[in-house]
Amino acid sequence: CGIIGYTGKLEVQDVLINGLSRLEYRGYDSAGIAYFRENQPHISLRKTAGKVKDLRAVCDKVNPSTCGIGHTRWATHGGVSTANAHPHRVGQVALIHNGIIENYAEITRKFDLGDELQSETDTEVGAALLNHFYSETHDPKTAIRKAVAEIKGSFAFGILFEDHPGEIYAVRNVSPMVAAYDPEIGAFIASDVTAFIEHTNRYFVVPEYTIVSLSPEGIALEDLKDGKEIAPKMMTVDWDLTAAEKDGYPHFMIKEIHEQPAAITRTITPRIQDDLPDFSGDQIPDTLFDGAENVTIIACGTAMYAGMVGAEFIQNRLKMPVTVSIASEFRYSQPVIDEKSLVIVVSQSGETIDTFEALKLAKQYTDRTLSIVNVKESSIARESHYVVYTHAGPEIAVASTKAYTVQVAMMYLLGFKLGLMNGRLSEAEAKEKVQALKTVPAHMEEVLQYEKRVKELTSRMVNAQDAFYIGRGLDYRVAMEGALKLKEISYIHAEAYAAGELKHGTISLIEEGVPVIAIANQQKVYEKMISNIREVKARNAFVILISKDKAIDDPTICNVHLSIPDVPDDLTVFETAVICQLIGYYTSVGKGLDPDQPRNLAKSVTVE
Ligand code: G6P
Repeated sequence: CGIIGYTGKLEVQDVLINGLSRLEYRGYDSAGIAYFRENQPHISLRKTAGKVKDLRAVCDKVNPSTCGIGHTRWATHGGVSTANAHPHRVGQVALIHNGIIENYAEITRKFDLGDELQSETDTEVGAALLNHFYSETHDPKTAIRKAVAEIKGSFAFGILFEDHPGEIYAVRNVSPMVAAYDPEIGAFIASDVTAFIEHTNRYFVVPEYTIVSLSPEGIALEDLKDGKEIAPKMMTVDWDLTAAEKDGYPHFMIKEIHEQPAAITRTITPRIQDDLPDFSGDQIPDTLFDGAENVTIIACGTAMYAGMVGAEFIQNRLKMPVTVSIASEFRYSQPVIDEKSLVIVVSQSGETIDTFEALKLAKQYTDRTLSIVNVKESSIARESHYVVYTHAGPEIAVASTKAYTVQVAMMYLLGFKLGLMNGRLSEAEAKEKVQALKTVPAHMEEVLQYEKRVKELTSRMVNAQDAFYIGRGLDYRVAMEGALKLKEISYIHAEAYAAGELKHGTISLIEEGVPVIAIANQQKVYEKMISNIREVKARNAFVILISKDKAIDDPTICNVHLSIPDVPDDLTVFETAVICQLIGYYTSVGKGLDPDQPRNLAKSVTVE
């Protein structure tokens, strides 16, 4: 979910709705705002099921109010309906919430709140609880203190108390929240800076368990427990507004696909010194790698697939044992790691709750945790012992593209460093690999030139029910990401298969015209791969082959051949990923869908 709050000189309705449209990638089931009507002690609500544009339609044409809160929802507790949309209002309190109140049922019973509830959400229980305590004292901070003491779970709350017009209160635990103040404009809170980047680029991350009070005159922070004043740690956004806008492209996703060469350059350049990997600028000591005997990589979704590419390199080229764990599995497992284990956590947002909790668990076993994160000062970045930031810039499309390839680039650089420090790569080998990595952005640019061709060939995909992505070794790893790109935004069932495994079951699903994206970029298994491709072609699959061959015009192998530039096998991942992203994107567009906001998904999953 995405939250925003504003109080200041501007008309709040515009600030909130514009902010919510920028936050919409966090959820887009329903949206709503609450504000002090004409800045009087009277809270008005406007909300609706649907997207932020639907919210605009139910708002007043003219609204002079200047203080309020807004929310765009990704449904967890309770279905998608206007009643379940935030803000939730109970008595004198209006509340927006990102996170989950786990003990909502217990709270409802304990304080006998049942009669006051009209929705099926945990959030409304939070509003009722706040109102319960507020009615006792009419003091916002006391009410917040007492309510937070009862709540189990994660939350970022934005709160209006009816007889405090012009003021917004906020508090958080785990769920992300940032805040900003400009004396000329006013004060903001939001789930992330994109919500207010058009107004100000100076912000701070709201510390956990801190009561935040916003007024047009400023923001005050005080420790929830002892009431002590806290000074914010100010930061500046290092990208500008255009990074958060489509900039002439029809969708964020295609814009972000095109941003990849520049993003990779930004990510790798500061970590290369004399053609060797160098993480001294990230304050990472060599001792982190030195003596590490095995590696565990933890992540979710696309970030996990980036981790898999890294794992393949570390295991097969460096001959070090690696495990890749799905964060939601790892956190309830018995980890087999110790102080010799290097744990690498990968997350674009740095806020994925499962990854965050898995990291906390890993820290009980080793002091060698390193996160690869895109969003600065996010929860995962702050929780890990060490962090390397990717410099992808804001990624807005729900389906990850540039965040994946920069994560892969970072995994390689870390792999080279690990190899060097453990005597598994010589300096000459590392240099050669770094030099090759530096050519990746140029090769990706070349592959981006295939856009039109890929677009044309997706006319063969739009009517498909199923698709298969096959490869061996590293190609199988990137096939998983390719399949995910197609299914998440085009709703075509897609499966990645290790090509050699196909005949042990899945080949029974191949019939005439079923698209098979075959990736054959690993020299060692090239011949085997071609045999596997012939097996599906013989069963009349529609085969799109991605390989380094100059041209293949053999109807027993493929229908379409996409030739990628000749780079070392390890680095073909980047080129293949671009093609798979374009296939996913144009198939989605070809089906008339919105690739930026696929149904049921959200970009930043801050609930379990
Ligand atoms: C969600 C997104 C995916 C993303 C995953 C992990 O499922 O839809 O695109 O890969 O979360 O997110 P993270 O921010 O931790 O990389």
